[in-house]
Amino acid sequence: MCGIIGIVGKSNENVVDRIIRSLEKLEYRGYDSAGIAVISNGQILRQRAVGKLYNLKEKLINEPICGNTGIGHTRWATHGKPTENNAHPIISKDVAIVHNGIIENYKELKFDLQKDGYIFETATDTEVAAHFLQREIDQGFSPSEAFAKLLKIVEGTYAFVALFSMFPNTLMVARHRSPLIIGFGDNLCVGSDANSISSICNEIAYFEDGDFAEISKDYVIFFDKNFKRVERKRTAISPDLTNCGKGEYAHYMLKEIIEQPNAIRKTILHNSVNADLLDGVSRILILACGTSYHAGMVARYWFEKFLKIPTNVEIASEYKYRNPIIENRTLVIVVTQSGETIDSLEAVEYVRKNSNSKVLVIANVKNSAIARVADFLFYTEAGVEIGVASTKAFTAQLTLLAGLAFCKHEFLLQELQNVPTLCEETLLLYEHIKKIANDIKLANNAIFLGRGTLYPLALEGALKLKEISYIHAEGFAAGEMKHGPIALIDDNIPIVCICPRNELFEKTISNIQEVLARGNNVIVLTDRIGSESLPSETEKIILPNVHVEFAPIIYSIPLQLLAYHVALLRNVDVDKPRNLAKSVTVE
Ligand code: F6R
Repeated sequence: MCGIIGIVGKSNENVVDRIIRSLEKLEYRGYDSAGIAVISNGQILRQRAVGKLYNLKEKLINEPICGNTGIGHTRWATHGKPTENNAHPIISKDVAIVHNGIIENYKELKFDLQKDGYIFETATDTEVAAHFLQREIDQGFSPSEAFAKLLKIVEGTYAFVALFSMFPNTLMVARHRSPLIIGFGDNLCVGSDANSISSICNEIAYFEDGDFAEISKDYVIFFDKNFKRVERKRTAISPDLTNCGKGEYAHYMLKEIIEQPNAIRKTILHNSVNADLLDGVSRILILACGTSYHAGMVARYWFEKFLKIPTNVEIASEYKYRNPIIENRTLVIVVTQSGETIDSLEAVEYVRKNSNSKVLVIANVKNSAIARVADFLFYTEAGVEIGVASTKAFTAQLTLLAGLAFCKHEFLLQELQNVPTLCEETLLLYEHIKKIANDIKLANNAIFLGRGTLYPLALEGALKLKEISYIHAEGFAAGEMKHGPIALIDDNIPIVCICPRNELFEKTISNIQEVLARGNNVIVLTDRIGSESLPSETEKIILPNVHVEFAPIIYSIPLQLLAYHVALLRNVDVDKPRNLAKSVTVE
């Protein structure tokens, strides 16, 4: 979703290049246009372009702008098509503003501003904020007073950064439900995440929902939502954030796939679950979206089997809308890579309003919005994940959830220690999977099958393939095929079946036979012993032998590699697939 940067430069330094470099670090969030505005001699200068940042950079080469205070934005369109005219910054005479989020009451505000003579030139909801601030400034209010008034009236979610032509060294910034971080260093700055401003500052401050701040050349003043001055803690920026380039890898996604053994190792090392956490818990409710939801689905099998606690898993974006009843003594677990996903945040809010349940958060991004609302907090130690398709964060989530599920089973906790080495061995399948990707590259549809803990993995394999290769893919519980989906099978549809030797092996083999009777493109992920019993017509990917409980972690890797190679064969930019955003900050 949208990315935001703002910098108040020192003396006469031109901040345009720095803004562009920071916007580049926000590209992973997903966007379809970009723009930048600076103040120069009391005037706002702006450049915007549709598409990738290089289009904006080209414009800046042909028609350069310079100034020592500026804002930049990558826009993921919500209100209004991704045109240059709708790209941010949005200007109203003396005010330029960038926004991430949705202003829900923009129609009423627009009506009101139109009555006062303001002419709307874009289809964005953000334009109301620009004109509203302009109106307050015209009436003699200061930028901070104008902001306080805006925030009182605006409904929805926002991270705003605005500059004012008559206050050349000032930025006004605010956030509610959308991420924004202030950076302190040689320059004062603001960005959607810590990584984006890590080269400009050495300390960061998070602000609370509803806070706003005035940033000038030398100081930052924080206000809470009641316009009362407050202090917000500054912390040193983590070294992890300053060292997260692609290195020698062609893509972030590949780098992140290969980093999995270490991500898992670190996650095990940095977390130990005290079983007391589960005292008095009679139910577990897991809330998450997308890939994190699939991790939750796997955990459900583990929790019921090993903790003997009834467990439900819910898609966070649906959860609150069916007015669910939360039983007493339910432990709510929220799983999230970014810690920003608005659907998960809203679901937590519903839990808070409707129960006295404790909320355990598993997040990857430190200090993220969801991490900050936790009663119990565990971090996956996957490090920064830039590739839009989640890989190492998923297996780190599974590792942490396994640690929780097996907290009373010392043997399994010991076995968990072997998982990173098994992942290393599995990564050696890289070349073999690259070849097999050719069997899928021309398909329009694909099916993934699994049973038990590997059913959620079938969903995850299908999600990975569709998001980065644009091939329509579905995951099914293998036993469900004959209840409908088997009608889809013909020779053109590749079937990927996850089938290690486990207690469901024979049943899954029967499902493979049923499929083979109707199609001829079946790829089976199995282990050495399993491979001996597989029909000869299947294409095999043979993984190391693993303890059955850890198969979901290990078998994730070939699924990720398969999606990666198919996407490359189809010339997709795997790190930035179309339409997708890494952090979903609007409902
Ligand atoms: C898919 C993917 C998404 C996220 C989902 C939840 O590869 O990354 O499906 O898993 O948007 O995001 P988080 O985990 O950040 O809450």
